[in-house]
Amino acid sequence: MSTETNNGVRGLTTTEAPFIEQAKNEGLLYIHQPYDLYSESNHEAWRSLYARMLPRWKKYANAHFLKGIESLCLDPNQVPRLEDVNQFLCPLTGFKAKAVAGYVPAYAFFDCLRNRDFPTTITIRRADKLDYLPEPDIFHDIAGHVPMHTDKAFADTLVRFGELARLAAEIGESIKDEHEKLVRLESIIKAMARFFWFTIEFGLMREGKDMKVYGSGLLSSYGEIEHCIESPNVQRYPIQLEWVINQYFEIDHYQPLLFWVDSFDRLFSLVDQLETWMKDGRLNNVSPGEPLVNEEDLKSFMIAGAGGSVN
Ligand SMILES: [Fe+2]
Repeated sequence: MSTETNNGVRGLTTTEAPFIEQAKNEGLLYIHQPYDLYSESNHEAWRSLYARMLPRWKKYANAHFLKGIESLCLDPNQVPRLEDVNQFLCPLTGFKAKAVAGYVPAYAFFDCLRNRDFPTTITIRRADKLDYLPEPDIFHDIAGHVPMHTDKAFADTLVRFGELARLAAEIGESIKDEHEKLVRLESIIKAMARFFWFTIEFGLMREGKDMKVYGSGLLSSYGEIEHCIESPNVQRYPIQLEWVINQYFEIDHYQPLLFWVDSFDRLFSLVDQLETWMKDGRLNNVSPGEPLVNEEDLKSFMIAGAGGSVN
């Protein structure tokens, strides 16, 4: 008998989980992972996703990711328990997966990274709809992101990036004119979001003569992990900060333009450069367009700048 029938709930399926709806209604963001609520169909979704990704990871993923998957001892057969993942992850880099009920406002998200916490979605996509999902799910977060967090240079880069959010909030706070503050913060957050997108989510890595994948959006997509490497329609360029922060992107189709680095030390140095540019005002007026910065994201930076708690 399935968990659905036993508990009268619909498991922890993305957009269909009463547990998550209830947490949101109560205003909760950080939650626990009610593991018993996963239905057989949820585990089946994990099993199928993992089984079909494994050969593609071996072919297209960067070496740090493959090592990370091994270090985490992920069970291919069932949805992982975050506490088990953390037991392997934490001793390596101090990072921990932290369960969340839904969208985390931008400042809080970046600030979690600074503290080596990774906001982690606990729901999983439907077993009969494995391909496209606009929302993150536990497969994207745990199988796509977390293996990268086992790598010290990558983990340190994330922390460093998280620190920039604090700098952005301080810069915002230093601007007295309210309109000017909003305009500048919006531009800085947009630049940060673009950087995150073209590196952490969709970054490529050159390993010798081979192009590999390190971005989690690619690592958790069965179709795009192959497409981004094999397709002649994808433009792949060495990363340039001025391009990345001014480049809009769309999230509902395969990416036509990607950027590569040849090491995580290089990525770390780009975050340093981003900091310098933020201080110098070079992020104050980036090119308009996607991603849109919503009011909640802006507010999260302003509250942090004014010394309020965002977690
Ligand atoms: Fe992601």
